[in-house]
Amino acid sequence: MKNKFISQIEPWFGEEERIALNEYMKSGGWLTEFKQTQKFEKMIADYTGAKYCFTVNNGTISLTLASLACDIQAGDEVIVPNYTMIATPNSIKMFGAVPIFVDVEPETLCLDIELVKKAITPETKAIMLVSANGRYPQSGIAAFVRLAKESGLFLIEDSAQALGSFYPDGRHIGTVGDVGSFSFSSPKVISTGQGGAIITNDNDIAYKVKRLKDFGRSGGGNDVHDSIGYNFKFTDLQGVIGIEQMKKLQWRVERKKEILKHYKEKLKDIVQIKFFEQDLENTTPWFIDVLVENREELQKYLKENNIGTRVMYPPINKQKAYNVPGEYPVSNIVGEKGLWLPSSSQLANSDIDKICNTILEFFIEN
Ligand SMILES: Cc1ncc(COP(=O)(O)O)c(C=O)c1O
Repeated sequence: MKNKFISQIEPWFGEEERIALNEYMKSGGWLTEFKQTQKFEKMIADYTGAKYCFTVNNGTISLTLASLACDIQAGDEVIVPNYTMIATPNSIKMFGAVPIFVDVEPETLCLDIELVKKAITPETKAIMLVSANGRYPQSGIAAFVRLAKESGLFLIEDSAQALGSFYPDGRHIGTVGDVGSFSFSSPKVISTGQGGAIITNDNDIAYKVKRLKDFGRSGGGNDVHDSIGYNFKFTDLQGVIGIEQMKKLQWRVERKKEILKHYKEKLKDIVQIKFFEQDLENTTPWFIDVLVENREELQKYLKENNIGTRVMYPPINKQKAYNVPGEYPVSNIVGEKGLWLPSSSQLANSDIDKICNTILEFFIEN
């Protein structure tokens, strides 16, 4: 019998989500965002320790709204990492702001603070600090907060990949800057299919986000508009799923950490594979990210053996969508050698053994 294909990532919904959705449909809810959404938002706020949480339709729009709530406007510059998912710069490009790409630290793939300092101009309005795979910058979040304060900038934390990850001082990633953002797209630790959330402790930002996502309404359901807003609302269908997924978060957080430990142990003698520095006490590796030699050949060999992988994000400045010049040695290396290995929470240890043995075989033969 042919071996089953091991995907690089799969979302995980179970009986609990099915039953909860069924119950919700029987209750006659309107599907639009209401009590289930509010309950999901409260669960995220409680888990992260944020004062406010607002769900939106995805983790790109959450960054757009977070930026608009910081009064970033067309023409303003925002510093973003050159290694990130393209949604990070696109979220501000959407309304005419200008992403300025800065290279990342080789150990964590988070923004290099020394390069950020050099990129600040009179036009700079914010820094978008992306938590790469749940990691935080080696320079520390306090240094970013200080830099943002001293330079009069907003600090926006793109924590799309970081639910379940904390800074060493115990604060959840996304809660330390002015505003933080999550994604619940299907590859994330928990998923609602599509979905995003904005968290903040700032009353003014919360006030603005609440209106921005709901047509600028001054109160639920009325048609009085004291500011411009749009429609970026969630649905209670997603809320119902999100509530069940949140109940499973802690188990998944632990499992993701075990998965990385298992990979590291099994691959420790392979010099052609290099892991990044992940603080497993505080952070949750969303994906298993590595730098590998012979990436394309290895990927092909794994696929022939029913193992899915995915090439890590190419440097954004070289994407045709942006195509801007600049020296970005770290993001260039990731573009050449970065590979995501299978990373789903539902991977069994025997799956990981099979993946690692296949990698071993490849490097013995090549
Ligand atoms: C760092 C980062 N920012 C933003 C996003 C966008 O989130 P969404 O796909 O929910 O729009 C992602 C999605 O993977 C991401 O990884």
